Amino acid sequence: MCGIVGYIGKQAAAPVILEGLSKLEYRGYDSAGMAVFNGETIQIKKSVGRLKVLEELTHGGATMPGNVGIGHTRWATHGAPSDVNSHPHYNASETIAVVHNGIIENYLPLKEKLVSKGYQFVSDTDTEVLAHLIDYYYKGNPLEAITKVMHRVQGSYALGIMFAEHPDQIFAVRKDSPLIVGQNEDGCFIASDVPAILKYTRKVYFIENQEVVRLRADHMHFYTVDEEEITKEPVTIDWDADAAEKGGYEHFMLKEMYEQPKTVTDTLMPRIKDNDIVIEELGMSDDEIKAIKKIFIVACGSAYHTGVTAKYIIEGAARIPVEVDVASEFRYRKPILEEGTMVVVISQSGETADTLAALRESQKLGHKVLGIVNVVGSSIAREADNVMYTWAGPEIAVATTKAYSAQLIALYLLAMKFGKVRGQIDDATFIDMLESLKKLPSQIEMLLSNKERIQRFANRYVGAKDVFFIGRGIDYAISMEGSLKLKEISYIHSEAYAAGELKHGTISLIEEGTLVAAVATQDALFQKTLSNMVEVKARGAFVLAVTNEGNTDIEKAADYVIYIPKTHPYFTNSLAIIPLQLFGYYVAVGKGCDVDKPRNLAKSVTVE
Ligand code: G6P
Repeated sequence: MCGIVGYIGKQAAAPVILEGLSKLEYRGYDSAGMAVFNGETIQIKKSVGRLKVLEELTHGGATMPGNVGIGHTRWATHGAPSDVNSHPHYNASETIAVVHNGIIENYLPLKEKLVSKGYQFVSDTDTEVLAHLIDYYYKGNPLEAITKVMHRVQGSYALGIMFAEHPDQIFAVRKDSPLIVGQNEDGCFIASDVPAILKYTRKVYFIENQEVVRLRADHMHFYTVDEEEITKEPVTIDWDADAAEKGGYEHFMLKEMYEQPKTVTDTLMPRIKDNDIVIEELGMSDDEIKAIKKIFIVACGSAYHTGVTAKYIIEGAARIPVEVDVASEFRYRKPILEEGTMVVVISQSGETADTLAALRESQKLGHKVLGIVNVVGSSIAREADNVMYTWAGPEIAVATTKAYSAQLIALYLLAMKFGKVRGQIDDATFIDMLESLKKLPSQIEMLLSNKERIQRFANRYVGAKDVFFIGRGIDYAISMEGSLKLKEISYIHSEAYAAGELKHGTISLIEEGTLVAAVATQDALFQKTLSNMVEVKARGAFVLAVTNEGNTDIEKAADYVIYIPKTHPYFTNSLAIIPLQLFGYYVAVGKGCDVDKPRNLAKSVTVE
């Protein structure tokens, strides 16, 4: 969601910015723009549409000479996607340019004030307020003007700012929206995320809330909001640069699906030691684990779906009550967190605004928060009391696959650890479960190798209008994710229903030929789900079933069956989701959709 890249150094800025922005495309955006100082003035070019429009407009940056610049990909919040609403935004004399990620909540009163002082606005954005407000406070000292603005504005912001009067500097500012800076021997960089500058440097600094960075070609200075200089330690990024490239796959999503066996192994194996589960990062003694009275899991999107799965497993295996909530609801519903409640937030990016707010809300109420996070050094990783990393590596496709699979593993490990410590899982079962976990990577690989069959099936459904996913228990959680995968990338309307709930209204939407995907991996619920399949089939549905090997009975009620290898019932999500991911992917490919960058979506949702 909005990408920022800035550069100051020996190289031409525009190509560096375009290249960096292309690495942030995964975040989701609808327009792009750049500001470059050409030796006399700040030149701005911006346009609605994909980055390639900006590339063409500037001939790959050649028409914007200069070594200092800031660029932006915009995901519209205030004001429709349009050329004029795109960033950067100027002050009236075009001497200050600003790019912004986030939302300025008090932009309307600020705008009114500025208008009353004679400022004229050309866009509908909240960001333009920043350009004029900096202008209002600017008396020759950029740092002073910026910090004054920081004291006045409410909301979230990551900013890149440049001043025509100070062409040897650019500024980076952050509050609640991600921003990093980095340096190499040629220059200094600003970026929303590491992949944008990984080609140039591995030494980055994570900017904390309400910090300001002044970047020059050969050094950076860090300041507090009160203009006091501070020192910061760099972090060395050890990602393989190729990890953020497609590596021969047609889409990042396909590549990332194929990385799932590795992701699962990397998240799982370091935490299995001598037939036990060791989660050092948990920071909890056995007594503390025994004292947990309730667990609150809070997350968004697919991460929320892993939380729903975990509810069934933690309640079943550890007998701890679990409440799962979407973060945007949790944060505003005055959650009741009694003593003994453990809060777990789950996030791939570690930057989702609502999840971060839920974390802070829980801490404010006096509770420790465990973060299950993929991006090292992200806001949630830094603010959570304890962090359990999912070692999925950089995930670029907007629709998550490998991070989702890694989150499931982290949650299985937690559930088993808690179950064992609390005496709910006996040793033999525990060992049996560990063995099942270790088999998951090769089983996932096997399911992925079956992709052609799923592709052929998916090709039949590129014209589908509605698709329903049903299941009970953990199968319901799988259905939610299967349905989300399909709709988010193929734009086909899809819903997930607890199988027993379908007949309370939604079954009226089933028509001749409507596809219903039934997930039936839980032996204890198998017959119940089978009955629901028969019900929809009787009303004309075409039933796709996902079930365990050996459950051939299902063929009586299903038109098409995908079998998954045998595993422990708690872990079927990790296997059943693979054909559903492939199905969503191939339907989207068949429809010619932009699989990695679906319309309107963002990878990292940094506004609420
Ligand atoms: C966005 C992404 C989803 C993701 C959700 C939560 O909507 O498109 O794939 O599940 O945010 O993101 P997080 O980074 O917190 O896991």
